[in-house]
Amino acid sequence: MDGPLRLEVMVASIRPQRFAPVVADWFVRTARARPEFDTGVIDLLHAPLPPDLSESPETEDFRQRLAAADAFVAVTSEYNHGYPASLKTALDSVKHEWRAKPIGFVSYGGLSGGLRAVEQLRQVVAEIHMVSVRETVSFHRARKQFDADGNTGDGAAIDAAERMLSQLVWWGRALSAARASGPYPG
Ligand SMILES: Cc1cc2nc3c(=O)[nH]c(=O)nc-3n(C[C@H](O)[C@H](O)[C@H](O)COP(=O)(O)O)c2cc1C
Repeated sequence: MDGPLRLEVMVASIRPQRFAPVVADWFVRTARARPEFDTGVIDLLHAPLPPDLSESPETEDFRQRLAAADAFVAVTSEYNHGYPASLKTALDSVKHEWRAKPIGFVSYGGLSGGLRAVEQLRQVVAEIHMVSVRETVSFHRARKQFDADGNTGDGAAIDAAERMLSQLVWWGRALSAARASGPYPG
């Protein structure tokens, strides 16, 4: 394919006092430094989708953003060993627009770094015909990993982010070409 891949970064937490923007902004800066991507942000706080999964203008806007995307990253916190309900609603609100596209995860939380939430997400995205990339960015005790400017000194996370983005490029290009060559048998 010609040109950059369209990457949509979804921000899962919608809590009023959420830490999510610190993690998401760092990751978006990292992604935007990569010329292989044209990176957008879908903050679920500002794109409220009906929890009863009914159709709404926001659902249609969300559908169109997803349809134009080649790859996704979910920035997710962990609540009680699961991921935020807002993200489940997002995954359930549309259908075809997810299919045959890759997704990576940036997680954060307490001691587990959100990894339990990510393992649950891998099961869910497989059901909606997505490919989850192996590399994961994870921040345990997240608030201690960022300075006042929103930068991190967590070398493992910095390295993982670059690897994850490279895997998204590979899968994003491969699946974009495959979708162009014929309909996905979903
Ligand atoms: C209801 C609730 C449950 C939580 N459960 C977990 C948990 O199971 N594992 C964990 O590592 N952190 C847990 N935490 C800590 C959160 O991961 C941490 O507060 C994080 O900052 C939440 O993301 P947010 O501030 O962007 O919403 C929990 C926090 C809340 C509010």
